[in-house]
Amino acid sequence: MAFNIAIDGPAGAGKSTIAKQIAKKLSFVYVDTGAMYRSIALYMIRNSIDIYNEEAVSNVCSDIHISIKYEGEEQQVILNEENVTSFIRAEEVGVVASVVSAYPKVRETLLKLQQQLAASNDVIMDGRDIGTCVLPNADVKIYLTADARVRANRRYLELKKKGQECNIDEIEKDIVDRDYRDMTREISPLCQAEDAVVVNTSDMNIDEVIDAIIAIVNANKMSERKEV
Ligand code: DC
Repeated sequence: MAFNIAIDGPAGAGKSTIAKQIAKKLSFVYVDTGAMYRSIALYMIRNSIDIYNEEAVSNVCSDIHISIKYEGEEQQVILNEENVTSFIRAEEVGVVASVVSAYPKVRETLLKLQQQLAASNDVIMDGRDIGTCVLPNADVKIYLTADARVRANRRYLELKKKGQECNIDEIEKDIVDRDYRDMTREISPLCQAEDAVVVNTSDMNIDEVIDAIIAIVNANKMSERKEV
């Protein structure tokens, strides 16, 4: 049986950084579901689809085929046979992903792929609805969060390091707006699964977060062993 770890949480909580490193330590496959939604968003941008028109977005979903492959440990997203991994990180793509991911047809397009990956591999999968909808029976569920200002500051430092001009108040506003949209949509909103363990990383560094999550995974494995 595949062992599944679900990590959900708001934008900028550090899910992908943490999940990638844990996957490496545990020899699990890392699945970044946000990248899949971002690839659909890229399709909408490239094809000038009105993202606020649910029908228009839903109608083109049947033209979109998403799959993933791995180069080393890095997940690559393939959109209709093109590797789009290097095009999906822009802020605009994240915002469009947050808008179109509220539509049922968009979520349906990705659900089966996500569930198939988890059925056949030990995965650590991050997103917004992994513990609540995609993998409700995941062995371990983590809700990773941090204060909005802390998340904004991390993003600010990241952009600064890349030499990009940015304003921390604007970044914080974008983060708060995105959280609101992701948490209040009707279908699969971001929320903490009842059986998820909350890890608030506001006052923790990356190594502390990784150690905390690995301890949770190990405790779970021990208790599963006892139950057998
Ligand atoms: O994690 P991220 O920033 O790459 O995700 C981009 C957007 O995709 C996010 O704002 C909401 C959406 N998303 C989602 O609805 N469900 C997921 N499981 C993952 C992402």
